[in-house]
Amino acid sequence: MDQDALKRAAAHAALDYIPDDAVVGVGTGSTVNFFIDALATRKHRLAGAVSSSEVSTTRLKAAGIPVFDLNGIQELPVYIDGADEITSGLAMIKGGGGALTREKIVAAVAEKFICIADQKKLVPLLGRFPLPMEVIPMARSYVAREIVKLGGQPVLREGYTTDNGNLILDIHNLQILNPIDLETRLSAITGVVMCGLFARRPADILILATTDGIKISQH
Ligand code: A5P
Repeated sequence: MDQDALKRAAAHAALDYIPDDAVVGVGTGSTVNFFIDALATRKHRLAGAVSSSEVSTTRLKAAGIPVFDLNGIQELPVYIDGADEITSGLAMIKGGGGALTREKIVAAVAEKFICIADQKKLVPLLGRFPLPMEVIPMARSYVAREIVKLGGQPVLREGYTTDNGNLILDIHNLQILNPIDLETRLSAITGVVMCGLFARRPADILILATTDGIKISQH
């Protein structure tokens, strides 16, 4: 089975977790694109969605799914999103698609974060995938120097601006032994908008598509 087939399988399995008539939080990325396509087949049983990026908003609207402003939403039972890396403890690196800030905001509001991923995303230790950080443009050099002090090697994502008008630094060469501690330290650097470690609020459920079938882990 190729990686896209696994992504599609994880995305379809997530439909079982969507309550009828609910607003559902929708993440960003190629796995989520399969989820949006699957969601479109049962849109008559949905109130609508809140979205973590302009790209997902466009895809949701094209599928005929209403997209609401998060500020008008009181309850969000589930948020479905992918990950760049995830551990068995359900801590993640996210932001490969640059949408980490809105993703973390929607995840904060949601009762349950359900991560959909293929087996390649499951890792024993986070950090092989460069850790994305969204930064305010004028703070770019300062933040980069502070990250070097913490042992990382920041690389500016060239020619890229986030949906919020900011920059992304991708941090290479981090060995993330304590993701909660590192998330706290990186988030505290002045000028950092959001850090792509999702450890303080990890996923609640992982739907992992493997060549042996779907495997579910709960936090
Ligand atoms: C988007 O900013 C990311 O957090 C994605 O959720 C993550 O990169 C997973 O994307 P894929 O499903 O395309 O691997």
